[in-house]
Amino acid sequence: MNIVVTGGAGFIGSNFIYYMLENRPKDKIICFDKLTYAGNMATLDEAVKNENFKFIRGDIADRKTVYHMFETEKPDVIVNFAAESHVDRSIENPEIFLQTNVIGTSVLLDACRKYGIDRYHQVSTDEVYGDLPLDRPDLFFTEKTNLHTSSPYSASKASADLLVMAYHRTYKVPTTISRCSNNYGPFHFPEKLIPLMIINALGNKKLPVYGDGLNVRDWLYVEDHCAAINLILQNGKVGEVYNIGGHNEKANIDVVKTILKQLGKGEDMIEYVTDRKGHDRRYAIDPTKIHEELGWLPATKFEDGIKATIQWYLDNRKWWEEIISGEYQDYYERMYEKNPALEYARV
Ligand code: NAD
Ligand code: TYD
Repeated sequence: MNIVVTGGAGFIGSNFIYYMLENRPKDKIICFDKLTYAGNMATLDEAVKNENFKFIRGDIADRKTVYHMFETEKPDVIVNFAAESHVDRSIENPEIFLQTNVIGTSVLLDACRKYGIDRYHQVSTDEVYGDLPLDRPDLFFTEKTNLHTSSPYSASKASADLLVMAYHRTYKVPTTISRCSNNYGPFHFPEKLIPLMIINALGNKKLPVYGDGLNVRDWLYVEDHCAAINLILQNGKVGEVYNIGGHNEKANIDVVKTILKQLGKGEDMIEYVTDRKGHDRRYAIDPTKIHEELGWLPATKFEDGIKATIQWYLDNRKWWEEIISGEYQDYYERMYEKNPALEYARV
């Protein structure tokens, strides 16, 4: 099978590529990524050594490039991770979120209509459901919860989900959608809460906690998300939505304190800063459907996953130091573009 992973040079997409290369060794994995600020070729260093892997630099919103990729790679499956993913950036500048997350998704769906596909999988987020109040711990997001978005990011992801459902209903494109809670683990870009806090603590910088720090996120170790998507590809029902999450709700302040404790640093490093505009209070997934229909359960407890993640950042300083210095952004040109020995397609 030819499996195209869009956005595979980012956090979850790269973890998914490694998961698939290991667990589906007969399949060819093609990463299609624009390499925005969030994409890093260094993350795929090990993948490029695998003969089942290929990298194509391209923008999912660029119709010509996407159609060309379909003609050359003949994908059986598309897994769309490519997105602008940071809520704070979407509040500063929503436009690129619409371009990539909405238009990009529509271009991929058009390509699926035109060339045919066995499965189009959309990687969505629990943020499409909006938020839950802190004083109602009995409430959870199910697949039937109404879409009710708060940020330009979540609005763009919800719009993409609606397009995916429309293309399934109208054109019979065989689609599935997964809506996952917050991920953490290796290769997480240091603008997001967990890696930012680890790296700031290591650099003895202040740890900026928004508002009162009581906002709750439902944390899932990234490998568990990858396993869930693979199960949906294998046994998921076409046209369906699956929520993914592992009942791992934590207040931000508790996550930050856990990180400080693990690193042997004091809580005086915490600095409460101005709250995010429109800040969602609580996310919490009800994963009953994926558990009952596909047998999925998360394998990693937060207590273990956070330790492994902190250790990963300690062991991989070069990876994040190059991000912080900005060096990673010309890594692709330095390492790959001029190296004809490596089989890189570039459109
Ligand atoms: P990320 O920001 O780390 O990576 C995004 C990747 O997409 C980067 O490699 C970037 O270069 C690429 N990209 C961006 N625009 C592109 C375009 N126009 N064409 C091709 N490639 C492009 O994101 P992430 O955290 O890995 O999230 C991946 C997906 O999972 C997103 O769709 C996001 O909405 C969803 N998601 C993320 C989380 C989370 O906790 N991070 C949770 C649930 C769902
Ligand atoms: P983030 O990692 O940006 O993910 P999302 O907004 O998609 O859930 O943020 C997770 C939580 O941490 C969110 O409630 C905002 C908060 N946060 C901070 O308190 N300080 C920070 O510096 C960042 C980046 C996030």
